[in-house]
Amino acid sequence: MKNYVIIPTYKEAENLKELLPLLTRYNVIIVDDNSLDGTEKICRKYGNVKLIVRKDKRGLASAVMDGVKSIKAKDANVVVADADFEHDYGRIKDVFNLLDKNDFVECIKKGKRLWNRGVISTAAKRFLYALVPESMWLKDPLSGFFGFRTKSVNLDKIKPVGYKIMLEVFMNLKKGSAKTHLEYDYGYRKHGKSKLKFKVITEFIGQVLRLNNYRVLVFLAIGVFGIFLNEFLLYAFYLRFPLFFSLVYAIVISTLANFLMNHYITFRNRSNFIPSIIKFSVVTFFAGLINLGVAFYLSYVIMYLIANFIGIVLSFIFKYLLSENFIWSMPKK
Ligand code: GDD
Ligand code: MN
Repeated sequence: MKNYVIIPTYKEAENLKELLPLLTRYNVIIVDDNSLDGTEKICRKYGNVKLIVRKDKRGLASAVMDGVKSIKAKDANVVVADADFEHDYGRIKDVFNLLDKNDFVECIKKGKRLWNRGVISTAAKRFLYALVPESMWLKDPLSGFFGFRTKSVNLDKIKPVGYKIMLEVFMNLKKGSAKTHLEYDYGYRKHGKSKLKFKVITEFIGQVLRLNNYRVLVFLAIGVFGIFLNEFLLYAFYLRFPLFFSLVYAIVISTLANFLMNHYITFRNRSNFIPSIIKFSVVTFFAGLINLGVAFYLSYVIMYLIANFIGIVLSFIFKYLLSENFIWSMPKK
């Protein structure tokens, strides 16, 4: 079995000077985006290092994937790490050992700092977990230190945009792949500074929506459609029935339509009809209560139409999150 360490770099010559001596027993692939800081010269000193230079800066994820594609062997073990000493290079051998019996190894930061990485990364993680429930297996889903067997991943399905390459590889693991975690001590960047810019946030949101298969948008569209359906039904019923009954019919039918569309479109093949519709009814009831309660109490402090709008938005979020994680929750793997 061939083992490779892939390291994406952009202006990391100072770090590479200290890093490459630690990696002499591995096949190292450095994918550099034309740093022009002496990276080439340093890499050339090491027979075990293959350097791929790309002429423009195309991002971390695509650098990793170009490294993977450069491997000729049909099946290889790959460990991906950053060049800046935040990852623990002493654990690379343990990752390779784990890859004997596993297809995927997630390296997770040990200790407090994992929970201590700022509001943004905590929010990013929550957002990801809520929209992509499968990703909950990953304990440190934004990290870039991991290992995998190339044969166990649908490599051509990977969209290497942005920075979250581990997440992307994980989501494209073939069925039945064995996965495990490994803890490591998180280090500090030795030289230079982080290359990640504000753009990573928008790229990350795009990636999460894509991994979510845009269900949240479909859910929203179905919800908006339901409002119009409700209005239309109310109009039609009110031609023949008293207002109260027309309202009840319109609400019941449009709610049922909402369930059916989400069951057969948004969350198709996720869970069975009967349990879903029971859970849906309960959640819909509480979503209504949230809307009512928020609108009623907020109307003491702000205009009632705005209060109601906030109530609608909150009950939408509530209902979407429970749809994803309760009503149509994924079967446990
Ligand atoms: N080839 C290439 N092209 N490499 C890049 C690029 C690029 O455009 N951008 C960054 N890199 C390399 C860096 O040189 C470094 O080796 C590694 O990718 C990580 O980049 P950093 O600049 O150190 O990123 P970070 O520390 O802010 O973010 C890392 O940690 C985050 C949180 O755990 C990355 O691993 C992120 O993916 C991760 O979310
Ligand atoms: Mn870093």
